[in-house]
Amino acid sequence: MPPEPETKPIQPINIAIDGFSSCGKSTLAKALARELHYRYLDTGAMYRAIGYFALNKGLVDKDGNVDEANLILSLPDTQVGFAIDPETGASMVSLAGQVVEPFIRNLHIATLASKVSQIRQVRDHMQILQKQMAEEKGVVMDGRDIGTVVMPRAELKIFMTAEPSVRAQRRQIELEGQGKIMDLKTVLDQQIARDFEDVNRKEDPLRQAEDARILDNTDLTAEQQLALALYWVHQAKHKECFLKK
Ligand code: DC
Repeated sequence: MPPEPETKPIQPINIAIDGFSSCGKSTLAKALARELHYRYLDTGAMYRAIGYFALNKGLVDKDGNVDEANLILSLPDTQVGFAIDPETGASMVSLAGQVVEPFIRNLHIATLASKVSQIRQVRDHMQILQKQMAEEKGVVMDGRDIGTVVMPRAELKIFMTAEPSVRAQRRQIELEGQGKIMDLKTVLDQQIARDFEDVNRKEDPLRQAEDARILDNTDLTAEQQLALALYWVHQAKHKECFLKK
């Protein structure tokens, strides 16, 4: 019988990424997942999918108010999940097995996502799914409450920030790419309102976990921030390996 190896192979870890909108969370999360061959889970997409579900089921009135009681009753029917695009490997959110990714990346759904994400029962339902998805390890998850609520024991937690004006400029360029021209002041005002909402809402407001590493990417390129995050992954993996020995 061969002798027992002295060191155990390094196991995959979980990576939690939180931060304000337009900080580049999904860019970093996708790049990390690609490099490490981990699964990427975009929790914002899950709340967007619930907003889309509510709209399709007639649970949103003409003023944009959500019928919370019936949405809560319908939560078991939503069956939020993720499918992998076989060509690109991209992760796509689905409802009852139907990919809804192309329908959720617009302002109407973003507004509904913000509303439904403030309903306690919706959050509980999503967080149970998210925790299940994290059980196997090797997951990169981004959102607002990942390091604090969903994966408080993630081996690596990253809290992303960037100068507000730089974030607004990035958002303006992103909107331009979608054919929406908006002046910088309007983009910045909307961003300030969203940030205020994220930090001050009652249910799971955006907070930096105590043991999170701060990644301020104001002056970093996508490549530089990936290199930094990979260095942290390396450290976190070796710390885990050392602790387990
Ligand atoms: O990151 P995003 O814009 O796709 O998120 C959509 C909405 O969901 C946004 O209002 C913030 C909210 N959200 C949340 O409450 N908790 C998360 N873990 C992720 C997103």
